[in-house]
Formats: sequence, C-alpha cells, structure tokens
Amino acid sequence: MTPALDYAHSQAAHFRAQLHDFLRIPSVSADPDYTVEVKRAADWLFDHLKNMGLHVELIEMADRHPLIYAEWLGAGSDAKTVLIYGHYDVQPAIIEDGWDTPPFEPTEKEGFIYARGATDDKGQMFAHVKAVEAVLKSDGKLPCNIKLIFEGEEESGGRHLAHFIKTHGKRLNADVCVVSDGSMMTIDQPIISNALRGIMAMEVTVQGPTQDLHSGMYGGTVHNPLQALAEILAQLHHADGSVAVPGFYDDVLPLTPQERAEIAAVPWDISDWQQETGATHPWGENDFSLNERIGARPTLEINGMAGGFYGNGFKTVLPAKAIAKISCRLVANQDPQKIQEQVIAYIRQLAPATVTLEFKYHGTGQPVLVKTDIPVMQAAIQAYQRGWGAAPVFKREGGSIPVVADVQNTLGIPVILMGFGLNSDGLHGPNEHFSIEMFHKAIDTSIHFLYAVAEQ
Ligand code: BES
Ligand code: ZN
Repeated sequence: MTPALDYAHSQAAHFRAQLHDFLRIPSVSADPDYTVEVKRAADWLFDHLKNMGLHVELIEMADRHPLIYAEWLGAGSDAKTVLIYGHYDVQPAIIEDGWDTPPFEPTEKEGFIYARGATDDKGQMFAHVKAVEAVLKSDGKLPCNIKLIFEGEEESGGRHLAHFIKTHGKRLNADVCVVSDGSMMTIDQPIISNALRGIMAMEVTVQGPTQDLHSGMYGGTVHNPLQALAEILAQLHHADGSVAVPGFYDDVLPLTPQERAEIAAVPWDISDWQQETGATHPWGENDFSLNERIGARPTLEINGMAGGFYGNGFKTVLPAKAIAKISCRLVANQDPQKIQEQVIAYIRQLAPATVTLEFKYHGTGQPVLVKTDIPVMQAAIQAYQRGWGAAPVFKREGGSIPVVADVQNTLGIPVILMGFGLNSDGLHGPNEHFSIEMFHKAIDTSIHFLYAVAEQ
C-alpha cells in the first residue's frame, strides 16, 4: 500500500484543489431554487469518477436529485466488495448567517478549508474517492471490489435512495458499507460511531381568524394563534426536560450498566460541551449524562417558529396564523411513524377550540445501532491505527443519516460509520470547515481500510 500512500501524498495539493472545485458548487438540496446546482454537483462527481477509470451511472430520480453510482469490480467474485456511501448535497448557507468568507468560495485559513459542505459531507466523502484513486493509479488495480453510492438529498430528508435500495438493492450488494459522514472530538482521538439517532420531522400550523386583524379592535376577544401555539409548545416538555408526549418513551430500551460505562468512556465532558456550544448551563434529562442525552435518549426540538410581524419597526397586528417546525431524534427500537402519530395526537389534545390545526410531514428516518463485534470492524480499527495513528473509540452519535438503517436492515450489509470530521467543524452553521490535515489523514486511513478488508 506504500505506493498508494506515496501517490496520495504527492498529489495532496491537487486533491485539495479538486475538493475546492466540488465545494464551489452550491448543491443545497432543500431549496428548489438550487435544483440546477445540485444537478451540477452530481455531474461534476460523475465526470470525476469517470476520469478515475470507474464505471459510473447518474441515476435520475423523478422530481428529485440524482444518485451517483460507480463501481470497479476487477478484483473478481472471490474478492471482498466495499460499498462507500456519502452525500454530495449540503445545507443552505448565506454569508449573512455570520460567515467570515463566502460559503461557496472555499478559503484555506490556518490549516482549515472553510466552505459549506467542507466537512458535511463533501470533504469526508471525497477522502474515500481519492483513496480509491490513489490505489488504482499507483497499483493499476484495487485489492477489493468497490461500489460507491452518493445521494443528493440527505440534508433534506429525501428517501429516494431508500426507494432505490428497495427496488434495486441487489446492485449495491457488498460485504461492508462505509459511511463517510461523522465527527470526532479531537484530531488525536478518532471515532467510529456505533449508533445514529432516527428522526421524525413535521410542522404544525395554528390557524385563528381568517386574516390578520387590528390588535386594538379584536385583541382580547380572538385567541392569538401565536399565543395559542406558544401555549401548546410549552407543554411538550416536562419541567425536568423530558418529553411530555404520552407514550414517547414506551419503546426506548433502558441502557445496561455496560452500555452506560461504554458511553462514559468517551472522552467528552461539560467543558467540551461549553466550549463547543457557547451555552452556559446544560439543560435536559438530569438522570442522564450529556453523552447519554445526545447518543442514547430521544428528544423533541422546536426547530423554528413563524408568524405575525417581525420586520423593522412595529405593527399592532393580531396574526391569522402561527407555524412551528418540530423534529424528534429517536433511539434504537423507536418507530418514527408511531412517534409522529403520538406527537400529533398530543398536540391535537392540547389545542384549544379557538384555533384549528394543520400538519405537514417532512419525513422520517429509522434509528441505527451498529454491530461492533463483526470481523470487518477490526479492519476499520486497524485502518485508523495505521492511517490516523491512533485507535478509534466507539461513540453513539446524536445526528441522523436515514439511509444507514436501509443499508443495514433492508440490504443486510454491515455498516461502518467511519467519520473524519470534528465536532467543532461547524456543520450546518456558519464558517463550516474541514481540517486539511484530517482530510489527508482520512485518505490514508481509507487506503489502509481497503487493504485491511482485502487481507481478511
Ligand atoms: N452528517 C450529518 C449527520 C451526523 C452529524 C452524523 C454528526 C454524525 C455526526 C448528516 O448530514 C445530517 O446532518 N443529517 C440530518 C438528517 C436529517 C435532515 C434527516 C440531521 O441529522 O439533521
Ligand atoms: Zn448534515
């Protein structure tokens, strides 16, 4: 594998320049105004993989963003097959959100690349792509068969890849699936995630009068929808931070003492939490540690509220409606559909007769628990030891990657959540960045992984 590592090191600057090109494309999947840009990113990736000598397909999805599938099966049917998953879409970003540099003009500063998607997920997935290239270019072949599947709607809750898995899953058949989308606490302590939370996202509109009214003429007689919404939302949690939706915790598996010990062994505590969030005091379920609350407990978050007048100056309005976007993070054994029904039933129960409700659904994703005692996990551990220079620890992740459950449960392929980012990379926020050193270590680690899998 030394020639592959040598190749990757000699091409380091070139690889980064290519990543910059990729990052320059604003592939924001949630915003229909960016559909053309998402397609441009898919085309860019298609060309890139083709130029590497892979067989590539751009799989169009009705009304949605395409999948990119690539393969190299030259190792033969006796050899292992590795499936690499990543997403080429990104979260929205505008400079007004607090960016110091334009989000789609990648900027290298003090050892980091700043751009939307730098770590989530273009930088991380591209590390695997470059590892494949390094091995292919330096050796003329790969030690195992490779399949790559990249989607363009992970950040917007799209389920087309899940549908593709249901209908064309056989094409993705592999011995292991590597997911290049995760984060570690420090560069010195790599992480393999052993859990992802599931998700249920929705919005509720509270409708009051048929149109905005003069608050002096009608205030005190019409139940203000913003107030009604606030009254409902205020009852979604108990004072102790737990979720008040009846039945919400019914299917949550209690943590065993061993699981709690494993979670406690992850080196991350309140001072890290304070530094990363800038918040002063933790909030939430007191009976659980911060790591447990993030990785092993379900939550309900209000992601946004809108209504009434919030422009410059002042307007004495009694608004006609109010909206809240709500999502739940779910843990193993919880069913997103069931949770959705419970949340809706509870909100209906809380709503006063003075308003009407309308619900909109934004999708669901199953939670995932990853098996760590499988042989291929040893290959991943070895890869980090060799490529990163340290053994990884297992950590339950708070975020969600909905398709992982489909890969694990529908395809029955073991998943390795091989993250290369840092918690502090600012994913989804302003000034998202990716460490240049970590990008190159990621390529090395991915090269080692391919050889370690082949060796097994
Ligand atoms: N990369 C994240 C998920 C993640 C974050 C994994 C941190 C591990 C550590 C992913 O791109 C993401 O943000 N997913 C969304 C999914 C949602 C929109 C359905 C999420 O978790 O909010
Ligand atoms: Zn993300």
